[in-house]
Amino acid sequence: MFTVVTGAQFGDEGKGKIIDILCEDYDAVVRFQGGDNAGHTVVVGGEKFKLHLIPSGAVRGKRLLIGPGVVVNPLSLKREMDELRSRGISIGKENLGIDMKAGVIMPYHILLDKLTDRRTGIGTTHKGIGFAYQDKIGRNEIQMIDLTEEEIFWRKLEEIIPLKEAIVEKLGGDKSEVRNEELLRRYLEIGREVKECLTDVSFEVNERLERGENILAEGAQGTFLDVVHGTGKYVTSSNTISSSACVNLGVSPKKVDKIVGVAKAYTTRVGSGPFPTEIHGELGERLREIGGEFGTTTGRPRRCGWYDAVLMRKAVKLNGYTELAVTKLDVLGGLKNIKICVAYELDGKELRYPPERAEELFRCTPVYEELDGWDEDISGAREPSELPKNARAYIERIEELAGVPVTIVSVGERRDQTILWR
Ligand code: IMP
Repeated sequence: MFTVVTGAQFGDEGKGKIIDILCEDYDAVVRFQGGDNAGHTVVVGGEKFKLHLIPSGAVRGKRLLIGPGVVVNPLSLKREMDELRSRGISIGKENLGIDMKAGVIMPYHILLDKLTDRRTGIGTTHKGIGFAYQDKIGRNEIQMIDLTEEEIFWRKLEEIIPLKEAIVEKLGGDKSEVRNEELLRRYLEIGREVKECLTDVSFEVNERLERGENILAEGAQGTFLDVVHGTGKYVTSSNTISSSACVNLGVSPKKVDKIVGVAKAYTTRVGSGPFPTEIHGELGERLREIGGEFGTTTGRPRRCGWYDAVLMRKAVKLNGYTELAVTKLDVLGGLKNIKICVAYELDGKELRYPPERAEELFRCTPVYEELDGWDEDISGAREPSELPKNARAYIERIEELAGVPVTIVSVGERRDQTILWR
């Protein structure tokens, strides 16, 4: 079985926890796009694991794979491997496979990201993601395998470094940072250390599927951060929707069995960009505090807003979701009324589907439907019947508006704080 899990909103939907729960039935978990801009939190037995690159199946003892479409910062990879090992989780070739062709995020990618983000105002994570992907498309990429072949590594860099130095200088940066030999040698050291884990992930995933194994493809970020289908320039630099798993892993779309969308019971966004249902002021602050809405990767406060069923209509089409997991329902407790955005108003017209252009999405005003809230603490509920009537009605309305069955509802960060809806 091949299952793809993606974020249905702007990232940070709680995919880490959902993947941790789902992966019990799977043999391997594979990341297919993005890099260490992602941050997945998994809580096990009171211990919090914050993962950025290594798939969320790490704490379940699964085979962990990083596909060729991922961009890898070797320093983050090494940090995470060490962290997991220090907590008693063995990480080595027996359980970790990294594709030889995964792109390497080089120090100059990070430098360029920081230098340009000031001008573009996108509010990136400053992890060098966009610039690493530019070099993939521009066919100027250092790949993981190059970190194991010193001569090739330096030869490639001799071509690349002068170009990067010129750009950094033009942008007012310090070009001497591009040729940081100490750091580049550190990359090679890590390359030697992870060499045993380098493999052909695409081949492995296909072979495993042919043998009848179960593979879970773990998406990073969210649908509206997709570089093609997201909100204008305020996106990440990879495809985040479900079909990206096929392209980036080289698995035929014919093989996909299930596509799970993860959505928060409200909406958050970190960084700039259109966000029609954003709540400003006290209520937004309250959601941020109760929901702990601060970025896992950058610590930045997340913008908070109501659940947006208009964006979800598009997410369902783009991803072809077969089921939904709704997270953080507990955060909405104690509100008298809860709003769901069911349409937008733009230039006197009512829209049921988001406009294609970000410029228009910025100008949309939400049309809300109001549902009654609940006062009870629901974090101890384990069955749908243990939820207050209004909380159940809220999930049922989300389901109805999306036209996709909800299968999991999360009411807290721990594994056990989960309701299997069906
Ligand atoms: P980049 O991916 O660092 O280039 O950032 C581009 C945009 O995507 C920014 O608005 C980031 O805040 C956002 N972004 C990137 N990764 C994540 C994530 O894992 N969760 C939420 N937002 C993200």
